[in-house]
Amino acid sequence: MGADPLIAAATSAREKAFAPFSKFQVGAALLTPDGTIIPGCNVESASYGLTMCAERVAIFRGVTDGFHCFTRVAVVTDTATPTPPCGACRQLLWEFAPDAEVLLANLKGDVVKWTVRELIPGAFDAKQLG
Ligand code: THU
Repeated sequence: MGADPLIAAATSAREKAFAPFSKFQVGAALLTPDGTIIPGCNVESASYGLTMCAERVAIFRGVTDGFHCFTRVAVVTDTATPTPPCGACRQLLWEFAPDAEVLLANLKGDVVKWTVRELIPGAFDAKQLG
């Protein structure tokens, strides 16, 4: 699958997912304004609540590499229909990728497109902190 390089990167990242508890492997990839692709996969913990989603792993990795803005996001799962990001990931995407297009894909090649703006209307952010 994946003429789209961002979906291809998220598909590869999904292979690295550490999901021994849920068995639900997720891959994500972010595009930076300079064309860099930042991948991420979900990482689970035996202390379940410490688990980190693929999208946030990619965001934190991107920030560590010095990127604070992402223009496109891809998320890949092996599901009948593409998987939408959880609420926590939508919040972080809003803060680091407010104008991004979001490509949700599965391994069959189905792709659903959203924007971050559509996924988290009326979001809380630094503006509220004054
Ligand atoms: N997961 C993600 O990686 N991204 C999401 O947006 C939703 C959920 C992961 C977390 C956990 O490892 C597994 O999927 C099941 O919830």
